[in-house]
Amino acid sequence: MNEPTTQKVAMISGANKGIGRAIAEQLAGLGMTVLIGARDPRRGEEAAAALRAAGGDAHAVTLDVTDPATVLEAATWIEERFGRLDVLVNNAGITGSGQVSPQDAHDQMPSAVDLDMVRAVFETNVFGVIAVINAMLPLLRRSPEPRIVNVSSHAGSLALSSDPDGPFAALPPSAAYTPSKTALNALTVQYANELRKEGILVNAAAPGYVDTDSNNHTGHLTPAQGAAVVVRLATLGADGPTAGFFSADGPLPW
Ligand SMILES: NC(=O)c1ccc[n+]([C@@H]2O[C@H](COP(=O)([O-])OP(=O)(O)OC[C@H]3O[C@@H](n4cnc5c(N)ncnc54)[C@H](OP(=O)(O)O)[C@@H]3O)[C@@H](O)[C@H]2O)c1
Repeated sequence: MNEPTTQKVAMISGANKGIGRAIAEQLAGLGMTVLIGARDPRRGEEAAAALRAAGGDAHAVTLDVTDPATVLEAATWIEERFGRLDVLVNNAGITGSGQVSPQDAHDQMPSAVDLDMVRAVFETNVFGVIAVINAMLPLLRRSPEPRIVNVSSHAGSLALSSDPDGPFAALPPSAAYTPSKTALNALTVQYANELRKEGILVNAAAPGYVDTDSNNHTGHLTPAQGAAVVVRLATLGADGPTAGFFSADGPLPW
């Protein structure tokens, strides 16, 4: 049965920990109902319960972005429970190198990379995003102010990465994670162009170098600091940008 709600409903993939969890906490703090997408139902429920204990309206949703069955089940559950979705944050992502900081990830060197690693990274960071957006679009179309935010990375910027004097050219070259975020940026623009006429704003966010499991806690920003730009893009007004790429400091070059 539909449960009519006046609160905005936000779905965040990979929200059981790290930046995704901080995004969920901040959106809940703004009064939204937050759906904690997690591939492990137990860890999703733990995160949702912690948010509820802090006063938020949070629900765990089992979602493995590489598993079409869970994507479909998640969309069906949201439709039955809420009838619509206002905000979709595609945050789930993997580096492909485990919990190794980008400064130390030498296993993605283009000339020697394992293609299976590239496929696995694209499966989650790129194809998974397409699957989730397309499953959620019918629900987003029922929102008065639908917003989609894709969690990208400064490293996905071709302009920044190709500057030989910049900090990103100094990172170990990557044929997996970095190109996956460039592809995610390209997808952001293509979805934005398709959905502009419907008022669905689609943007990419670069959280910065954030202290999480994904870099073995070498990042210098807190998850809350990394989440802030995502939350800003998730709560844009009708006159807000679409097809943009932003960090906390403002627009980034593609
Ligand atoms: N940390 C940084 O400095 C940084 C910088 C730039 C961009 N980012 C991006 O920020 C996003 C969040 O990263 P994070 O640093 O917070 O990493 P994290 O702590 O490792 O969290 C990643 C989240 O994604 C989930 N996930 C991975 N594969 C999934 C799948 N197939 N289906 C559903 N969920 C999946 C993880 O679930 P499990 O717990 O089950 O593994 C976890 O909840 C990623 O897209 C990452 O690329 C991070």
